[in-house]
Amino acid sequence: MRIDKHNGSCTAVAARQGRGGPTWKEADVQFEQKEEVRVHIRWMIRRDMPEVLDAEEESFEFPWLEEDFIRCLRQRNCIGMVAEHEDRVVGFMIYELHKNRIHVLNFAVASDYRRRGVGSQMVAKLIGKLSSQRRSRVVLEVRETNLAAQLFFRESGFRAVSVLRAYYEDTPEDAYLMQYRYRSEKPAVLEPVNRISRLAG
Ligand SMILES: CC(C)(COP(=O)(O)OP(=O)(O)OC[C@H]1O[C@@H](n2cnc3c(N)ncnc32)[C@H](O)[C@@H]1OP(=O)(O)O)[C@@H](O)C(=O)NCCC(=O)NCCS
Repeated sequence: MRIDKHNGSCTAVAARQGRGGPTWKEADVQFEQKEEVRVHIRWMIRRDMPEVLDAEEESFEFPWLEEDFIRCLRQRNCIGMVAEHEDRVVGFMIYELHKNRIHVLNFAVASDYRRRGVGSQMVAKLIGKLSSQRRSRVVLEVRETNLAAQLFFRESGFRAVSVLRAYYEDTPEDAYLMQYRYRSEKPAVLEPVNRISRLAG
């Protein structure tokens, strides 16, 4: 499906990036106060839309509108997921299922819930859907200026695999295509060692 990917929020400029963020001291204090929260992750329903739109609007300079979400979610392969904490929707993710990959189109955590492990729990849920036989990777585009998201995805095991030059319609910036590859939990099967190789050390 194509919901004007180049305007997709995961590819949008994070609204507060680079605009007089806190000094390191303020950031340290904020960080100390934040505790990890355990969220309940479930499919998105229509009733979640106001909270999803709030998180979207505070996260991106070029946010999706309600009709963008609806158009996207009408597609058979498009899925919405939300993270809930104490009856509040504090994060959401929109992704497409393809034959051998999952493509994240939009993803945000409410600003007062960031750095509390919500995004990590959502990504872990997504990664849990991968397997070696079927969908073996998760891909997404991140704006080159969205350093916070790049650091988050790198921390979550993603790697930048290519640069998509002048990817956006709204700004001349590039996108990084980031990818997570399925890794089996099981230890690799060891090659049988024959007597000669054993003797050879
Ligand atoms: C990117 C985003 C979804 C991360 O969600 P989150 O719930 O804050 O992430 P987590 O708390 O699970 O972070 C896990 C780790 O990722 C890294 N990380 C997350 N945000 C970071 C930031 N702003 N700067 C540096 N590292 C960061 C850290 O290593 C963090 O662990 P720590 O807090 O123990 O240091 C959130 O910042 C967000 O909604 N951003 C705006 C929207 C956006 O850019 N979406 C992605 C579009 S591609």
